[in-house]
Amino acid sequence: MEDAQLYVSANAMQKRDALLVLSEYLPQMAWSEEGENVLDIGCGSGDVTRNLLMPLLPRVEQVVGVDVSRDMVSFASKTFEHNSLSFRQLDIERAVQPRQVFPDGFSKVFSMYCLHWVKDQERCLTNIYQLLQPGGEALLVFLARNPLFTMYENMSMKERWQSYMQDVSNFVPVYQHKTDPAKAMADLAEDVGFEVVSCEAPELEFVFENINYLKNAIKAVNPFLKRVPREEQDAFLMDCLNELARLKTKRNDGKMVARYSLMVAHLQRGE
Ligand SMILES: C[S@@+](CC[C@H](N)C(=O)[O-])C[C@H]1O[C@@H](n2cnc3c(N)ncnc32)[C@H](O)[C@@H]1O
Repeated sequence: MEDAQLYVSANAMQKRDALLVLSEYLPQMAWSEEGENVLDIGCGSGDVTRNLLMPLLPRVEQVVGVDVSRDMVSFASKTFEHNSLSFRQLDIERAVQPRQVFPDGFSKVFSMYCLHWVKDQERCLTNIYQLLQPGGEALLVFLARNPLFTMYENMSMKERWQSYMQDVSNFVPVYQHKTDPAKAMADLAEDVGFEVVSCEAPELEFVFENINYLKNAIKAVNPFLKRVPREEQDAFLMDCLNELARLKTKRNDGKMVARYSLMVAHLQRGE
């Protein structure tokens, strides 16, 4: 996912969910009078950090957005950086001793629609734990299960596309096939040392007004598309849409609907 401009124009579902979750959870968090140091992991193009998260935060001193993608960080820096907001490249899954990069740590850590990309959840949660100051809180929001990933799995079995999708399992979230994703996540967070304030994976729906919105949304996050020869990319995307329709994502009125589970984990590092 490296086309920041496309992502900004095709992330309505992610923005809707960020607003939903932040409105519910921010009032439940403790906010210090002095202002908070906030980290946003997987900030992508930076628009959610700047236009959605920051205006909702009660008291902020400094916000840092990090992302594994150099292109995303470069776009976010050019477009949204200002005196209390900066961006840096960081891989939350592979970082070792992240406090060497951020010696002061953070009082709040947010991550929206990112951690379903992370295979090594234990390493990632350990890094988040280390990045938090004692008493700090994390709000982690990401896809627990989504038919999108079943679609990837089905597409990878088709002769025409399989050579581009041999590593499909790397792109399926670790919780996709768990019977109780929220419990699995909560257990892991506790093992890492967190106090689990709450951890849920509610079922949500998002209706795409027309097929082009869905096509763009898939295009913006599809990790396989760039491997497909340019002249076949349209056929690939159309096949993705057909496969999603087969997974009962098409309503009677013809609109496409995504039904998925969103992991929402509110975690705290003890004092
Ligand atoms: C779908 S975007 C979400 C962007 C933004 N947070 C939002 O809510 O719209 C997911 C972002 O996570 C980033 N990402 C994926 N794996 C990551 C990792 N291991 N460390 C940091 N960022 C990662 C991707 O590069 C991508 O920009």
